[in-house]
Amino acid sequence: MIDQHGRTIRYLRISVTDRCDLRCRYCMAEKMTFLPRAKLLSLEEIAVIAERFIARGVTRIRLSGGEPLVRRDVADLVHRLGSHVGHGLDELTMTTNGTRLAEHAGSLAAAGVRRINVSLDSRDPDRFRHITRHGDVDQVIGGILAARDAGLSIKINMVALKALNEDEIGPMLAWCIAERLDLSLIETMPLGAIDEDRVDRFLPLTTVFDRLSADFPLHRAGHRTGGPARYWQVEGTQTRLGLISPLTANFCDGCNRVRLTTEGKLYMCLGHEDQVDLKAALREGGVKALDAAIDAGLATKPARHDFRIARGMAPAVTRHMSVTGG
Ligand code: GTP
Ligand code: 5AD
Ligand code: SF4
Repeated sequence: MIDQHGRTIRYLRISVTDRCDLRCRYCMAEKMTFLPRAKLLSLEEIAVIAERFIARGVTRIRLSGGEPLVRRDVADLVHRLGSHVGHGLDELTMTTNGTRLAEHAGSLAAAGVRRINVSLDSRDPDRFRHITRHGDVDQVIGGILAARDAGLSIKINMVALKALNEDEIGPMLAWCIAERLDLSLIETMPLGAIDEDRVDRFLPLTTVFDRLSADFPLHRAGHRTGGPARYWQVEGTQTRLGLISPLTANFCDGCNRVRLTTEGKLYMCLGHEDQVDLKAALREGGVKALDAAIDAGLATKPARHDFRIARGMAPAVTRHMSVTGG
């Protein structure tokens, strides 16, 4: 599958639910209205669409949300898609907030998942509770260690937040080194309405990187997923540091991904409204209509996102990241 700018699409990211048991301040408002269940794709439909993408050349699938592990029976989907790993699919991954990881880690590993990304913006219990509004950090760290012990490679996702977790970035990297985890730092993106002004929390990773490289020996490392992160190896350790800088260093030239929402819309870009309705296509016209809708979507994939933040500025798009699935 090739888009209108000649980029090959090999990566499908699926939001299996827009719901979440946490309410991270940079991601969601305290009061959220989620999609009614009747509007969602069934897990069977998600699997059929995903399998069509695999048949058309997708080699990586990531399940995300919202929090994917809050969707009932998601393990069945993981097992079904996991059966394609090594048979068309190079990898099946998940991005999770970790609250239910301890109970799911074994089953993810058994289904063929080899690596997962877990959000952890602070290791301090009070701060973690403040940022997520509801979270218990011990539960998440317990989940992370259980997943590592089940054999999964783990990348910690930490959104860099001015004055909220800024002073914890160095200690988080040190902890990841000690625990043999990778770390990705992320700039906050203007997606959906939240209760704060994003400007107050925006921390450019350019500044963060300068500080980190004074304390850790960092060597530029290659790309593993063709994703947005630029990676550095922390010399003498197993840890890789990734920087995802949508605002300060655009990475869209190499974009290899599209996104399926819980409602069955295929979004071509996190930061644009262009989408096609795969649920309608599948329900009304089967696989042929599905293919036609996917082709129509690829023909509209924008060249790049254009995320900007300024005080009082409305977000680039009104939907939250949890709808489009990170
Ligand atoms: P891999 O590349 O598979 O390792 O995963 P990832 O790091 O892209 O995945 P993850 O779901 O953990 O996302 C980490 C952060 O990167 C999230 O904040 C995503 O929204 C962001 N991200 C991932 N892909 C894109 C993209 O295409 N555009 C933008 N702007 N952000 C992205
Ligand atoms: N900007 C940047 N990252 C975000 N995430 C959620 N919302 C945002 C946002 N507005 C992060 C989560 C998770 C990953 C999928 O994206 O923390 O780790
Ligand atoms: Fe939930 Fe993830 Fe959003 Fe936090 S960032 S509210 S864990 S979807």
